[in-house]
Amino acid sequence: MTKSCKLRALDAIVESRALIKENSISMSEGCPNPECVPIVDASIKLRDGSILEVTKDEMKAALQYGETAGKPTLRKWLTEFQRRVHNPPTMDERGLPSSMDLIITSGCSESIDQTVDAIVEEGDAVITEEYLFPLIFLNTQTNGGRIITVKTDRQGMSSSDLDQLMSTWNELTDGKRPKVLYCISSGSNPVGITCSLARKQEIYQIAHKYDLLIMEDDPYYLLQFNKPNVASFLSLDVDGRVIRFDSFSKIITSGARLGYISGPKQLLDKLVLHMSSSTSSASCLVQIFVLKLLEYLGHDGYLRHGDDVSSLYHKNAISAHEIAKKHLEGLAEWSMPDGGIFIWLRILGIQDCSRIIANTAEKGVAILGGSALTPDKRKSNCLRISFSDQSKENFEKGFAILASAIKEEHDRMK
Ligand SMILES: Cc1ncc(COP(=O)(O)O)c(C=O)c1O
Repeated sequence: MTKSCKLRALDAIVESRALIKENSISMSEGCPNPECVPIVDASIKLRDGSILEVTKDEMKAALQYGETAGKPTLRKWLTEFQRRVHNPPTMDERGLPSSMDLIITSGCSESIDQTVDAIVEEGDAVITEEYLFPLIFLNTQTNGGRIITVKTDRQGMSSSDLDQLMSTWNELTDGKRPKVLYCISSGSNPVGITCSLARKQEIYQIAHKYDLLIMEDDPYYLLQFNKPNVASFLSLDVDGRVIRFDSFSKIITSGARLGYISGPKQLLDKLVLHMSSSTSSASCLVQIFVLKLLEYLGHDGYLRHGDDVSSLYHKNAISAHEIAKKHLEGLAEWSMPDGGIFIWLRILGIQDCSRIIANTAEKGVAILGGSALTPDKRKSNCLRISFSDQSKENFEKGFAILASAIKEEHDRMK
């Protein structure tokens, strides 16, 4: 933990809440008068036609400040869900610092930010893959930390490269020994790879040997295309060295800004202290809406919904793959993603895609370049294509325009 994280103390107002008994006259809080709130109750209409009612009492609670770690009822539902899906070995070790706990956040973005803030300080090294959703880079670098990259192959982060890195690390020449490894386990953003179970077991053993904390960022866990889903790092965690981030963004809605962290209680307690002085808590209103939906669906229904979303994305991925073959064969290479919402293209014969991206943008097709997904914004010949929300017609048009932009770039280089 960072020095500032160790110094974190409970806000005295939050601390004073422990003194409030069930039916106390509470003159201590700064809560607005519920009579002034214009909203009374709500009905949520679902796609299947069902109506979920948020009663007046539920709404009254949802419209006030809530517990920093999240609504106890939502935490309980999700804790049982984690047991069902990941069965974490540390879950029932009550009272140990390594026991698994679960807190609610405003999504994986906040989970990454809070965790990095608690554990990365000046000179610390964080191990990641070469191309990644960039929040881990930005947060680590903002805290004065360094990113050390390890290669990725079809099975995920290379365990042999990781072992080589850790076994040859020299603190005199390489600086502080890495203490954290960040990994997007399933259908990775951007490369679309799911880390295999065998690879996770190897990485976990290396993490155990060199005492690394594993940050498992896994918003696409339920969106794996090959079922059953590959087990998570959390499900392997006998030491209490995994902190796992889940999100409702890709399964229910990104507008909810809601996610959760599962990990060692000792660390989560510190994150809650930080949240109490920053975000305060995820929106209570959103927590109630999502909890209503989860209670309606149950664990089985939520998993079924995840499977449905995954099937839709799998279909889109196949369309994108087939249409890309038609337009891009000989110009780019790629593999069918294992899950998530991205196809990762490597453009052939080109070192830097920036002019191609500018060219397609000019012609009305937005594509993200690999450079934006590296820790140092280095030149890249890779492109990330999202297939979550595109029609076949859009893939046809988009890939045709991309193909012509690649050919124009080849011509320019002659
Ligand atoms: C790997 C990864 N982590 C985190 C996030 C952010 O998720 P959230 O919407 O829960 O903040 C994304 C979103 O695209 C992502 O791909």
